[in-house]
Parts: sequence; structure tokens; C-alpha cells
Amino acid sequence: MNADYIKWRDNMSFKNKVVYQIYPMSFMDSNNDGMGDIRGIIGKLDYLENLGVDMLWITPVYSSPKFDNGYDIADYYNIDPQFGTMEDFDELIEKAKEKNIGIIMDIVANHTSTHHDWFKKALLGDKKYQDFYVFRDKAFVEKHPINSIFGGDAWEYVEELNLYYLHNFDKTQADLDWDNEEVREEVYKMLNFWLNKGVKGFRFDVIDMISKEFDKLSMSNGPKLHEYIKEMNKKSFGNFETLTVGETWSADTEHAKLYSNPDGSEFSMVFTFEHIMYTMNKWETTIDKQKLKGIFEKYQKELFGKGWNSLFFNNHDLPRLISRYGEEEYREITGKQWAMILHSMAGTPFIYQGEEIGMTNRAWTREEMRDVEAINYYNEAIKTHEESYVMDKVRKISRDNARTPMQWDDSDYGGFSKENPWIIVNENYKDINVKKALEDKDSLFYTYKKLIKLRKEEEILVEGDFNLIDLGEDFFAYKRTYKGQELILVSNLTKEEKTLDFVAKGELFMSNYEKEEKNYRSYETRIYLSK
Ligand code: GLC
Repeated sequence: MNADYIKWRDNMSFKNKVVYQIYPMSFMDSNNDGMGDIRGIIGKLDYLENLGVDMLWITPVYSSPKFDNGYDIADYYNIDPQFGTMEDFDELIEKAKEKNIGIIMDIVANHTSTHHDWFKKALLGDKKYQDFYVFRDKAFVEKHPINSIFGGDAWEYVEELNLYYLHNFDKTQADLDWDNEEVREEVYKMLNFWLNKGVKGFRFDVIDMISKEFDKLSMSNGPKLHEYIKEMNKKSFGNFETLTVGETWSADTEHAKLYSNPDGSEFSMVFTFEHIMYTMNKWETTIDKQKLKGIFEKYQKELFGKGWNSLFFNNHDLPRLISRYGEEEYREITGKQWAMILHSMAGTPFIYQGEEIGMTNRAWTREEMRDVEAINYYNEAIKTHEESYVMDKVRKISRDNARTPMQWDDSDYGGFSKENPWIIVNENYKDINVKKALEDKDSLFYTYKKLIKLRKEEEILVEGDFNLIDLGEDFFAYKRTYKGQELILVSNLTKEEKTLDFVAKGELFMSNYEKEEKNYRSYETRIYLSK
């Protein structure tokens, strides 16, 4: 690691940054083919600058057959023509840089598409490339039954080879074998290619799965996991000024501390999921707000000074925040409530496109569904459940909820495109759109904008410690302290008006209601600050 890097990392200058996630397929379509693209993003940089975010995480734009919307990469060194060209991408890096916005690439290296050259060569019998993947014979496969995360068997038979290959996701996403040094070297080479282009960070897809333990039938947290990440850091991004974040569904606080060790040996931070997944089966998970308080408390306290976490409720895999944690009838109020709760904690906030204007889930029909995971779930679940039960789950949980086109204005297709988009636009675009949000000074957009600004102005948001305040089941409240200052957040978790004896020290700094009253109204949330 070079000296500049160490200095920067010691100061952890990413600590007051805010990241905005873009799902290019659904962000903005510049050439009116129904699919979002890179030039669409370039055209919206002014909007992102206005919001005030520091970095853009762009989900995969590499060449891909898109069975899993780009998380099935066929060529790590090229831009998919549907998204544009490498020149467009270079221009995005350049234009974003002019606005002090860095680009974060999404690295999907646990697996490649079966359309990748390596896999094609493997299929043709090339041993070198077979060893890039996890090919096993029948005896091994029978001893090691593994289910795919997208449903069904994770082993796919290849007749010509009389072997099976492992795919933890769709059968077109073949797992790479990270125990093969050549594979790892290929990944580092690719990372350096993008770093040399000027990208400022990486988000590592399902990175907790790169080291597997077949004996235990365990596909994540294997014995070499942290060793490989350290090696990757040394040989690629550790030599540059970057913000890196690992997607780690299986991480607990102990793993999170290793991944985000302040010595800079692994990543800057991780995405942990305990606050999202309360049960192993995502389709059956319901939100438990009492548990949620405890989970936040645990991560905030245990990582304090020992690691760094991200702060998020939404991404391209998760249902919309307001539909899930808030209430659509109180759209703006609950949108502001959860934004304030999340953004006032320690960690790096990630905002997912449309979250800042309060986009919501929609009522899908079977024909309108696009997501491979949801379609697989439907096909399985329908064998044992009523249609209405299955569709209810899809409407609540499906990833398609996050993937409807960004709602820019009230013109056709929400201003996303002039042509029928690849996925249906949420019908509520006439009411919920960027144009309207920008015109209303009190809109959710401005709450996000303010919270982003505060993170830069008030050190307590970044550095303060965290303690829950117990105000009973109906409230979520916490206190952060830093250098004699105090920040207190109090949030009414219920729709009912509540009286509260507790008096917070300091001035009312921010609220999701316009006028102050004594009682806490439906979902009322206040931040007090004393200096
Ligand atoms: C991650 C991505 C998700 C993708 C999966 C397989 O969880 O966020 O969209 O389907 O990995 O790459």
C-alpha cells in the first residue's frame, strides 16, 4: 500500500460520503429503445449533483445475455451495447468527476455467465478453463446436494462432459473456483483495468461466497474468504484511493469487523442483511420493528471504532422502503421517518434510485413479472399454494418492485422513455415523480438532500457513538454523543397519536411534520441536537 493511500485510509475519508445506486436498465433511456443506458445517466448528473451524493454505484453494464439483468457477465472488459459504448462509459467517469462524483463499479466475480469465453472453452473440453469453474462428477454431486438460491438444484449436468457444474444462482451463472489461483489473478487484472480507467470504487457481489466448504455443504464464509479478500486488496484496489463495499448476506458482526477492519486490509465497508432478513426464507420474512431496534443497536455498538457499516434499506433486490417499512397512505411522512432513522446512524448511507422521491411497490400480475428469481419462486410455490397467496408474496417481496423505471415526470412512461419500457412503469408516476418532488420544498427529496448535507456539516453524524433510548414498544429512539454534543432521535412507530414524557435535550433540528406540537402524531420523527 502506498503512503497516500495509508494516510487517506487512516482518516477514513469515505466516512462522510453518501452513495447513490443506479440500476441503469431502469434509470433513464436516452435512445428510446425501452431500456435505460449510460447516456441516460450522463443526462441526469445535474439532478444527482443537486441531491448532493458523492458516489454512484452503477449495477452491471458489462456484456451480458441478461438472464439475471447483467449479474451474468459474459465479458468483464466490454460495455453491453444495450447500455452504450466504452466511450460513453469513459465520458460518464469524466463528467461525474467534474462534479466531484466518483463511479463505483459492480464486480460480479463469484460467477460468470455461461456465455463467457472461459465457460465456452470449458464446455469444449479445455481442461484449463474447466478448472476455472466447479465441475464435478456424479458421485461428488450425489454426496453434496446443494440448492440454488434461485430455486432448484445448484448442479447442472453437461452431457458432452458427463460432468455437473455448480451454479448458486441461475443455471446461466456458473460459479468460479476461487481456489484456483489463475482465476483470482484474472479477477485482479480486471479490477486494475477499471481502476486505471478512473473508477473510484467497487461493490463486490455476493463476495461472502467465494470460499466454499463442500464438506459442510456451506456456500459462504469458507476458510479462505478473508485471505482472498486481503490478497485482492493488496493486488488491486488497495493501491488506489477507493470506496469498496462487499455484499455479504451471511455476515454477522464478527465477520463485518474483519471485512471492514480500519487497518485497511479488506474493504471499506460491507452490506449486512440482518435488518432486512428476519428468517432464512426471504419470501416469508415480515418486518419486526422491535427486533429491528435491537439489530441496529448491535451493529452500531459492536462496530463502533472497530469497523464500518453501510446504511441501507433499499437496493435493486429489495422491495421499496415505504411499502415495506413505512405505509403508502403516509407516503411522505413514513418516507421521511425511515430516511431520518437510517441517516442519523453511523455508517455510509446508500440511496437507491427513486427512494429519494418515495417510489413504491406495485401490484404485479404473473404476465408483468420480469425477475428470474420471482418467476422461479412462482413456478415452485404455485405447486403447493393458492395463486392469491403466491402473488401476494410477489407483490410484497419481488425484486421487480425496485426495478420499475425511474419516474421523472408525469409524461408517458414517467419520462423514462418514449417507448414501451422493458418492464412496466408504476401507474402512480403521475403523482410520484422527480419533477413534482423538486417543485415542492417540503418533499421527501429535500429531506434526503438535507440529510446528505448534514453528514458533511455535523461531525456527530459520522463520529458519534450510539445508545438506544428505551421509550417502550411504540417508539424507536436513540442518542448519539460526540465531544460534548448530543443528537437524539425519537420516532413514533405507530399510526396513533402518542404522548411522551421524555424531554430531549437540545433544539428541534429536524422533523417530518411541519409544525411542532406536544404529542407525537402518526409516525412523527424528530431529531434534537444540543451543542
Ligand atoms: C446479488 C445481486 C443480485 C444477483 C445475485 C447474483 O445478490 O445483488 O441482483 O441476482 O447477486 O449475482
